[in-house]
Amino acid sequence: MNGKSLMILFAPPFVPSINSVQALTHSKDEGRAFQQNQVSDLRSRISKFGFRILGARWTRGTASFLFIATTCLVAPAFAADAPTGVTNIFRPLSTPAQAIHEVSLLVLAICAGIFLVVGGLLAYTVVRFRHRPGDDGREPPQIYGSNQLEFAWTVIPIVTVFVLFLATARTIYDVQGAVPPADALNVTVVGHQWWWEIRYPELGIITANELHVPVSESGKARPTFLKLESADVVHSFWVPQLAGKTDVIPNRENHMWIEPTQPGTYVGNCAEYCGMQHAHMRLRVIVHPPGDFEKWTAAQRQPPVDDPQARAGRDVFFATACINCHSIGETKARGTFGPDLTHLMSRETLGAGTVPNTAEKLQAWVRDPQTIKEGCNMPNMQLTENELNQIVAYLLTLK
Ligand code: CUA
Repeated sequence: MNGKSLMILFAPPFVPSINSVQALTHSKDEGRAFQQNQVSDLRSRISKFGFRILGARWTRGTASFLFIATTCLVAPAFAADAPTGVTNIFRPLSTPAQAIHEVSLLVLAICAGIFLVVGGLLAYTVVRFRHRPGDDGREPPQIYGSNQLEFAWTVIPIVTVFVLFLATARTIYDVQGAVPPADALNVTVVGHQWWWEIRYPELGIITANELHVPVSESGKARPTFLKLESADVVHSFWVPQLAGKTDVIPNRENHMWIEPTQPGTYVGNCAEYCGMQHAHMRLRVIVHPPGDFEKWTAAQRQPPVDDPQARAGRDVFFATACINCHSIGETKARGTFGPDLTHLMSRETLGAGTVPNTAEKLQAWVRDPQTIKEGCNMPNMQLTENELNQIVAYLLTLK
């Protein structure tokens, strides 16, 4: 929709339709030209009234912005009730996210009410008391002091702010004051430049970039409580459908919790600029249906596969600097600077959501990670083609 069609929408009495003009001028082209003249005439009249927002400023960009904004606000309300695979604050599927969603709708409704009242009064005043031809140019009567008005515009905002404060404080208390039940799952998440280390201290599992948790069903809540730490700079843990953001700060423990009510994969990302590859610091939360989480934990607790076919690659891996940064189960690879590789191939992505975890991408990654995630802390190891193939063949067995 462009500026003109919007104006026609807003000002039907001023602009004749194409059909009615055609009847007068005999051709569609003449009709269009006539209509365009009418439109520019209208635009100049509108500008004269100081009502520019309906005239020249109604650009295509403004119309597109309004359209996109409306779509973003309205469309999610009709979306299906399942994890969307995209970050969507309007589809909360976890208890804390639901509480935040409810309070934000209340805030939105109150602010929309204020906007309509203030904007409506302003629009009414601008139109009703505009300059008209034949006005005598004198100032209107000046009125000073009105106790009723001043009382109203002091008390109403105070009451409004008080309601917003109470509703928000209650939600903060509900979310942050939650006490972990005895059977809650406890997970430690450590933010690194630029990936997430995920530890299950009670289960002895260490993984990266994928947080696996059980689903909470009605009557059987299985919340996951997260302890957030950082190995370097400030990050922020955010999975919009599951909970609000919580900063991940060096030398400090922060806590949050999630209680997903639908199985599926939820996408999140680091929400605090933390350096060059901040945008490639994504994470996935995989919510398992009942019984499935136990299967996942059992698989993750298995020792690393030791496939005789991949011995050559294993030997190269253990003979290079790989083991200074990466751990593999109960082997001598005990590095903690990079992600644990014990069950590398059980994960969906490489480089914290940068590329899918396929044989081809893994090969490209090991050859030179800098071509995939420039600036990441894994260097090009300058492997020969043979070493590269052997190491990748070994890594592919780590299921
Ligand atoms: Cu970590 Cu942004």
